[in-house]
Amino acid sequence: MSTSPLKSSVSNTRSLTDERKKLLHNSSPSTAQDIDAPTRKRPRSLKQTHFATTMRKTVCSECQMSYMQHLKSDRQLHEKYHQRAVEGMELGPTITLVWSSIEHHQLKSGVDGKIVEVNIESSKQISVAEEFLDIVNNILSAPQDNRDWSFDPNRGKVFLFVIRSKAVGICSTERISEGKWMVYDTGQLVPKQRIPLIIGISRIYVSHKYRRMGIGLRLLVAVQHHSIYGLTLARNQIGWSQPSEFGGKLALSFNGVKHKSGKMLIPIYEER
Ligand SMILES: CC(C)(COP(=O)(O)OP(=O)(O)OC[C@H]1O[C@@H](n2cnc3c(N)ncnc32)[C@H](O)[C@@H]1OP(=O)(O)O)[C@@H](O)C(=O)NCCC(=O)NCCS
Ligand SMILES: [Zn+2]
Repeated sequence: MSTSPLKSSVSNTRSLTDERKKLLHNSSPSTAQDIDAPTRKRPRSLKQTHFATTMRKTVCSECQMSYMQHLKSDRQLHEKYHQRAVEGMELGPTITLVWSSIEHHQLKSGVDGKIVEVNIESSKQISVAEEFLDIVNNILSAPQDNRDWSFDPNRGKVFLFVIRSKAVGICSTERISEGKWMVYDTGQLVPKQRIPLIIGISRIYVSHKYRRMGIGLRLLVAVQHHSIYGLTLARNQIGWSQPSEFGGKLALSFNGVKHKSGKMLIPIYEER
């Protein structure tokens, strides 16, 4: 993998983060109710009342959903949502038969799994993928992702990692043409340098129960082999859309590049 000259002054990614927050603020609520409530600023003049105390919301540390613990309907909604976020999305016994797998894998734990590519001829498959991506966006506090893949496979794809009848991992991609190097440690961008990229990782997520088993990496390898017919992409042709903390670690292990300064760089791009 090639390295690139790292200039002394680097521009910051903060503006991108702020843009994301803005987008998130304006986006409509999805599967989980009021998921971004913990980060919302409260007006200073408001006084805490007894009523407000009993209405306080609980935020689940695993799935990030906020809900009213004392309301049965809220608790039930959380349980349903939590299970899908932590253990994966149930596809149903008959549905799995019509999902065509592109790769089979045995995990370190000995569990068998397969990677499937979402077939956009099937509205059911599209809606499962969209529902999964909505959950991922809520957990990552990320804005609505690019859904171009749902009408044109040349503009992106979605790969799922399936164990038995559950989708436990997802990776959505988009076609891109260029990006930049990001210094892993600081999150700063290397200025005045554009790098050619072909595919962007829009979202990648593995259910909590199945992390550190190699599923994330396998999904990325599937992206390398199955994004463009007849072509295997080099790892440095794949970029990341503002990686999260864990995403950054995965990115480092997949296509991090060591600069001569000793700093690790990750190829990133700005999501449309
Ligand atoms: C990021 C994520 C998809 C990684 O999936 P995963 O299946 O656990 O990743 P893998 O098991 O394939 O990890 C491959 C390598 O990446 C690195 N890595 C991945 N997660 C890591 C973590 N939490 N801590 C340290 N290194 C990590 C390690 O080098 C790992 O190899 P090792 O387990 O042999 O040490 C998963 O943690 C996740 O869904 N996180 C929440 C969503 C998210 O942040 N998505 C990224 C958005 S950019
Ligand atoms: Zn939860």
